Amino acid sequence: MAITEDGQYITFGQHIQQQQQYFPSASGQFSWLMSGITLATKMIASYVRRAGLIDVWGDQGSTNVQGEEVKKLDIIANDALKKTLGYRGNVGIIASEEDDEPRVLQEADADDSYIVMFDPLDGSSNIDVNVSVGTIFTIFRNPPEVEGAAKSVLQPGAKQVAAGYVLYGSSTVLVYTAGNGVHQFTLDPQFGAYLLTREDIKMPEHHGTYSVNEAYLHRFPEPYQRYLHWSKHPEGGGYKSRYVGSLVADFHRILITGGIFMYPPTTEQPNGKLRLMYECNPLAFVAEQAGGLAFGAEGKRIMDIEPKDVHDRTPLTIGSKKNVEEAMRFINDPVKIG
Ligand code: AHG
Ligand code: MN
Ligand code: MN
Repeated sequence: MAITEDGQYITFGQHIQQQQQYFPSASGQFSWLMSGITLATKMIASYVRRAGLIDVWGDQGSTNVQGEEVKKLDIIANDALKKTLGYRGNVGIIASEEDDEPRVLQEADADDSYIVMFDPLDGSSNIDVNVSVGTIFTIFRNPPEVEGAAKSVLQPGAKQVAAGYVLYGSSTVLVYTAGNGVHQFTLDPQFGAYLLTREDIKMPEHHGTYSVNEAYLHRFPEPYQRYLHWSKHPEGGGYKSRYVGSLVADFHRILITGGIFMYPPTTEQPNGKLRLMYECNPLAFVAEQAGGLAFGAEGKRIMDIEPKDVHDRTPLTIGSKKNVEEAMRFINDPVKIG
C-alpha cells in the first residue's frame, strides 16, 4: 500500500529530499541525479510493458564486451540511461555493462560530481518470454584528484554513495539505499510517479529457500556442491529452490521473504558470471543495509573487493544473514564434512 503522510503520497523525490537531513554535505545535486535515473527507468518500463507490440524482442545483432549477444532492449535501456544522465550536469562519468569503457561526460570539477554505473537491462534472456527483468545502478563520488575515467571508477563497493535497482515485474518497483536504510517505491502507471510502498526494509534473518542454477552443479567447487547437497537434504536444510534467471528478480524475492542466492565459480568461469561493479556491489549495499550479507570468492565481503577493471566478475553468495553464514561455513571449510 502506498505510504502516506497526513493523507499525501510520498514520492521518490520527496523521500530523497527527506533523506537529505541525514546527509548535511548533500547539495541537492544528488536528488537531481536520481531524477535522471527514475526518468530513464520509466522510459524502460514503457518499452518492457509493450514488448511484442513494438519491436523489442530478440537480438540486436552484436556482441558486447562481455562476449554476450546484445538484445534490442539492452540497447534501448542503455541509451535511455545515457541520454537522461548525460544532461544532469553533475554526472562526471558513466559506465555500463553494455559499453567497453567508462565514458567521461564532463571533467570532475567541484566535489559534487558523481560516477554512475549500471546494468541497463538485467536478465535479458528473459525478455522474449515475459519473465521479470531489471535495471541495476550504483553511484560513487567522482574523485577530482584521480586522473582518467578508467581509474576513477575503480572504487571498492564500500565507497558507494547510493545504489539500487528497478524490477520490471508484476509491478514496476524501485528499491534503493543511500546508506540510511532500504526503501521501495512502486511506479503508479496512472500518473507516472514512484510512490513509497515499503520503508526501511529488513531482510528476514533466515528462510528455507536457496536460489542457484543447479544445472552447473558439477562445475561448482566441491564445498559449494556439499552446501547444496546439505541445503535440500531432509536431514539438512530441507530447503526449497527458486531460480528465475534474472538476478534482480531473484534478489528482490530474497530481500522481501529471505533466503540465499549464489552464483558460484564454475570450471568455465572461475570468477563467476556476475559483474562486481554494477551487479554485485549495488545488491550487496542493499543487502547489508537491510541486515543481510554478501560475499565473493574466499569469503571476502563483496564491498571490500578492490576492482581491477570496470567489468570484473566475482562469485556471489548473498542473502539472509543466517543463510549466508550457514553457506560460508561450508564454502570456507575445505575440509570434507560427513
Ligand atoms: P544480464 O542479462 O545483465 O547479462 O544478466 C544476466 C545474469 C543475471 O541476471 C542472472 O542471475 C544470471 O545472468 C543467470 O545466469 P545463468 O543463465 O547462467 O543462470
Ligand atoms: Mn545483469
Ligand atoms: Mn544486462
